Amino acid sequence: MQNHKITVIGLGYVGLPLAVEFAKKYPTVGFDINKERVSELNQGKDLTLEVQDQDLIKVLLNNQERDARHMGLYPTTNVGDIADSNVYIITVPTPTDKNKRPVLTPLIKASETVAKVLKTGDIVIYESTVYPGVTEDECVPVLERTSGLKFNEDFTVGYSPERINPGDKERTVTKILKVTSGSTPEAANQIDDLYKSVITAGTHLAPTIKVAEAAKVIENSQRDINIAFVNELAKIFNLLDINTSDVLEAAGTKWNFLPFKPGLVGGHCIGVDPYYLAQKAQEVGYHPEIILAGRRMNDSMGAHVANEVVKLMVKRDLKVNKSKILVLGVTFKENCPDVRNTKVVDVISELEDFGADVTVHDPWANPDEVKHEYGYECHPALDAGSHNGIEQLKFDAIVLTVAHTEFKALDLEKLKHEKTVVYDVKGVLGTLADAKL
Ligand SMILES: NC(=O)c1ccc[n+]([C@@H]2O[C@H](COP(=O)([O-])OP(=O)(O)OC[C@H]3O[C@@H](n4cnc5c(N)ncnc54)[C@H](O)[C@@H]3O)[C@@H](O)[C@H]2O)c1
Repeated sequence: MQNHKITVIGLGYVGLPLAVEFAKKYPTVGFDINKERVSELNQGKDLTLEVQDQDLIKVLLNNQERDARHMGLYPTTNVGDIADSNVYIITVPTPTDKNKRPVLTPLIKASETVAKVLKTGDIVIYESTVYPGVTEDECVPVLERTSGLKFNEDFTVGYSPERINPGDKERTVTKILKVTSGSTPEAANQIDDLYKSVITAGTHLAPTIKVAEAAKVIENSQRDINIAFVNELAKIFNLLDINTSDVLEAAGTKWNFLPFKPGLVGGHCIGVDPYYLAQKAQEVGYHPEIILAGRRMNDSMGAHVANEVVKLMVKRDLKVNKSKILVLGVTFKENCPDVRNTKVVDVISELEDFGADVTVHDPWANPDEVKHEYGYECHPALDAGSHNGIEQLKFDAIVLTVAHTEFKALDLEKLKHEKTVVYDVKGVLGTLADAKL
């Protein structure tokens, strides 16, 4: 294990924290095609906020130190810098296209990059979330074809899914038990030992790569389906005029009732991964019913929230067309700057379809990214010092969509008039809200 030289390919939410942990023990190269990202990292800045700047700076190596040190992280965009590694860990995105089909292009491209420098004895480990079979049936042929080397004779592969939860400062990468697997018993043990050397929570060595791939994709699919169920309950109880969270609290007193809450399911994991499993199921002739029903239910929640807000406004004789609505939060989850696949945009666009004039406030989101991705202005602060001083406005409705800590201390009264509707998607405002999901 001592001779490992590691390269992590893809320095995003998953790749960077992992590379930093490996860098504490091994010489580690971080490779990414995004020049801006690599340049920020080399300046000791992680804009995903997953790694504290001082922790990044502690492990960073410059070009001279790289040859002299036995550990540390060297972020680069240069393929030449990864040539002398012997373990390659791939943590690139696995998104879906507009038809909700898996896009494997980043994985294939990353495999090509590795294959260009692959040598006899090297190990390639995939961490990206995929459907069962992607590592061996899609990626290995690319590694073989481009490198000219033979799978399981010249090189081996493994799959070890990442389970981090962005924004969660308690359960960080080393504190989450890691599933590992390898293409031969020897590779499996080597990979398991490698992860054991940095993951303090330990590892679970799965019997095959496909088992490890399937385990990850069902973890997120299970969560999606459970949330879909409580989202359906929220819709039913809403029609019955029963408070959903009161029902969940009462039912939750039974030992085996699962504590899920209704909400918007966005991001690039839970809202995306079930489509990977569904695609594979369809390829082998099975049409998944529950998995896709869960997806449809969760994707409908943005419009549902907007419709509920509008109904409450109408009941208060508020004119919806040209009304002023404040949406609190645009990231896909609380205390995290990630806006990818956020379902808050479904709430906003539905409210705009009703003619409402929507103002978005989020202290975590990068306004440029929100503008670029979705075309909305996002105000990072409410006070007059920034933008045009939202705090001086009175809104007809306020919709809290993301439970950022900052929102719990917000003085909503100054943003309200006597009829303002306050809708609380996350159930954090207590009695300040007129309704919650
Ligand atoms: N973010 C999470 O919460 C999370 C948790 C568990 C698993 N995952 C899975 O991990 C994988 C990575 O997710 P992420 O959130 O870190 O993505 P990310 O978008 O934050 O980071 C991916 C990085 O890979 C880089 N990249 C893309 N193509 C590349 C290539 N060909 N070569 C080198 N670099 C390349 C991008 O520039 C980016 O910096 C996905 O499969 C995701 O589903 C994510």
